[in-house]
Amino acid sequence: MAGQREKPVADLTPNRAKLEHARLEEEIAAHDQRYHQQDAPSISDADYDALKKRLLEIEEKFPDLKTLTGVSSRVGATPAAGFAKVRHAKPMLSLDNAFADEDVADFLGRIRRFLNLKEGDDIILIAEPKIDGLSASLRYENGALVRAATRGDGQEGEDVTANIRTLQHDVPHKLHGKGWPEVLEVRGEVYMTRADFLKLNEAQETAGQKIFANPRNAAAGSLRQLDPSVTAKRPLRFFGYYWGEVSAPLGRSMQESRKRLAEWGFTLNTPVRVCHSLDDLLAYYREIGAQRATLPFDIDGVVYKVDRLDWQERLGFISRSPRWATAHKFPAEQAQTLLENIDIQVGRTGTLTPVAKLKPVNVGGVLVSNATLHNEDEIRRKDVRIGDTVIIQRAGDVIPQVVSVVLEKRPKGAEEFVFPTKCPVCGQPAEREVDAAGEADVRRRCTGGVSCPAQAMEGLRHFVSRNAFDIEGIGEKQIAAFYEWGWIKEPADIFRLPKKHAAELRKKEGYGDTSVDNLVRAIEQRRTIGFDRFLFALGIRHVGQERARLVAMHYETPERWLAAMDEAKDRHGEAWGDLNSIDKMGDVVAEAILGFATRRQSRNVIDHLLKELADVVPPARPVTDSAVAGKTVVFTGSLEKFTRDEAKARALSLGAKVAGSVSKKTDYLVAGPGAGSKLAEAQKHGVPVLSEDDWLKLIGG
Ligand code: IVH
Repeated sequence: MAGQREKPVADLTPNRAKLEHARLEEEIAAHDQRYHQQDAPSISDADYDALKKRLLEIEEKFPDLKTLTGVSSRVGATPAAGFAKVRHAKPMLSLDNAFADEDVADFLGRIRRFLNLKEGDDIILIAEPKIDGLSASLRYENGALVRAATRGDGQEGEDVTANIRTLQHDVPHKLHGKGWPEVLEVRGEVYMTRADFLKLNEAQETAGQKIFANPRNAAAGSLRQLDPSVTAKRPLRFFGYYWGEVSAPLGRSMQESRKRLAEWGFTLNTPVRVCHSLDDLLAYYREIGAQRATLPFDIDGVVYKVDRLDWQERLGFISRSPRWATAHKFPAEQAQTLLENIDIQVGRTGTLTPVAKLKPVNVGGVLVSNATLHNEDEIRRKDVRIGDTVIIQRAGDVIPQVVSVVLEKRPKGAEEFVFPTKCPVCGQPAEREVDAAGEADVRRRCTGGVSCPAQAMEGLRHFVSRNAFDIEGIGEKQIAAFYEWGWIKEPADIFRLPKKHAAELRKKEGYGDTSVDNLVRAIEQRRTIGFDRFLFALGIRHVGQERARLVAMHYETPERWLAAMDEAKDRHGEAWGDLNSIDKMGDVVAEAILGFATRRQSRNVIDHLLKELADVVPPARPVTDSAVAGKTVVFTGSLEKFTRDEAKARALSLGAKVAGSVSKKTDYLVAGPGAGSKLAEAQKHGVPVLSEDDWLKLIGG
């Protein structure tokens, strides 16, 4: 084999090149597997590098051999199929954002209300910079670093232990000092300083290698290297800012915990400040904002955290972010550029979204060539025309947007933009829905439904996406190809792929046996799926992850859900009331869910899919052995020991369902003074009524 490889790439015939390329791909994938999954490499780093180099040389001469899933596409920050997955012991959450001062005031107000604090009660918050890098979780057992993972989707990240171990500073391999808990997960941000980033780019340029857009990309690209010896050469740093699983508390407050983390050898983000009021927070924000350009690293805002850990515990989480912290972002960065064209994109629900095609421009370190124009009314309101010079802005991770037009620079003869009334993809009418009050929706929608290729494909992309069915190896490109070949029209078709098309797929350009085997495996693995993911994947309007979870918890199985929907068709009566009683449910959402489940076309999609699946399992309830797990509870009247929000959050965390109205299915009504119609309703249905104290007794304090 080695002999064959020594033949200069220039002398290879296309056929020989193809054969060798396929073999190299397979060989490298096997080494990756041994290295990352089994921790047992069987060749030296130098030999591995030689294999990769040869592969890249072949691809350079025969670019057709490059595939999206291939080895060469995996280097850098793009999806790294080579990393093992790690399930986080505790989810890695994100932060809610505040932009204006009022948002910070609201944040404080919410906390005070939730905790029922009195006027004079002091509340301490820790303010710290928000580093622009990527988060990582470092797990220590008995003082030794055993595992490091990226955030991933928050539930599951990538195993980057070998890479993190190469960091020269900030990450102790063994904890210093004493008194650390047996299990300690330290969470923080991996980042690169500005100076190091510039130096790295210079070196990259000299070596003719990839230039990074900003320190964050450089940090991400450097950490997510399949070959840790590359990471080792990159100047990565780590700031600790919180923790995940810990077998014993780190202290009573952020301040105490930070002190201990520092003693054990971590670098914590600075400068921090202890704040007692809104004014303190805002003063810190402005000071850091003024220092922003001179700080050694990029920050995109500051973070405020409630200091007391018992309060953090009580405040808990909403969906994916803690109630006890928020990120106060710095204002967006703006730039001027030429609007070259306006593209109309068609989304999953048929919405036509205008996208500004821009002359590429650098906005705060990122090259921007697309920006959203939101919708037809916005284009008219801002009077945006093709050929205009426009001001665009980007704030954090949001999609850049067109803010306004520089009218003085408008070329003569620029014409008003005419928004299409037909779908640019399928040609069917695009309409604006009018609500009961005669108000037209801002969105113009293609009326084609899944018969419109754009909607069908977007729907399928959503279906396989990470928070839905999460089918690895099927992304945008594969969906487009499979759709074009007529293989998939609806979700169920994806599960028919292994039997119907795998053999054919093996023969297609760019799909080797290994990648088809992996694809088939990925599909087969998902024949068992959580009901919440199942519901979210359907792409029902207004049903995001959180609502999907609530609905799934309520009905538990697709069969029960569908039976209830059939019963609720009359839109009054018990089943309809039951649907409406689910938390976060309103008429519009209930209607969307009911409509989806009962309309012929979408019901077929569900039925076909269910036939392909082995098991759709009820979503896990947080705590199953509590007295109220699985029970449906309604709160009414004024509560004295808790705020309503806190009581609700507590009930949910104990595995109860919280409903907004009383029905026969309600298990308990918790009624405080001033309870009205709900109390009467409960008495009518014979639902047990509890006082706040009864409730506390029931849940154990
Ligand atoms: S605290 C449970 N503190 O910002 C709360 N996050 O937008 C955990 N980040 O995913 C986050 N600096 O990657 C926290 N001082 C800081 C931070 C920080 C940067 C990142 C972190 C997080 C993201 C949320």
